Amino acid sequence: MCHGIELTGSRTEPAPRWTLWVRQSHRWLSMAFTLTVVANFVVRARGEPPAWVTYSPLPPLFLLLFSGLCMFALPYAKRWRRTGAPRASA
Ligand code: HEM
Repeated sequence: MCHGIELTGSRTEPAPRWTLWVRQSHRWLSMAFTLTVVANFVVRARGEPPAWVTYSPLPPLFLLLFSGLCMFALPYAKRWRRTGAPRASA
C-alpha cells in the first residue's frame, strides 16, 4: 500500500492528503502525456495525422503545468505560513 511521499521536508508532520493527491495526479498525467507524444510519432510515420492527434498532448501538458507549479510552490508556501512572510535573501 502506498502511504505517499513526504513533500514538506518535516519529519514530524505528515504531508496533507491533497498534496499527495496532486503528486499522484502529476505522475499519472505524465504517463498520459507521454502516450500522446508517442502516439503522435507513430501516427505521423504514416502521414499527416488529424489535428486532434497533433494537439492531444496539450490538455495533459496543461494540467501537468498547474500540478507541477503547485508542487513547486508547496514547500515555500509551508515555510511562509510558518514564519509569517517570505524573507528577502541578503
Ligand atoms: C509542464 C510543466 C511541469 C512542471 C512545472 C513540473 C514540475 C514538477 C515538480 C515541481 C515536481 C516535484 C519535484 C519534487 O519532488 O520536488 C515534479 C515531479 C514530477 N514530474 Fe513534473 N513538471 C512538469 C511537467 C512534467 C512532464 C511533462 C512530465 C513527464 C512527462 C513530468 C513528470 C514528473 C514526474 C514523474 C514527477 C515525480 C512525481 C512523484 O514524485 O511521484 N512533469 N514535476
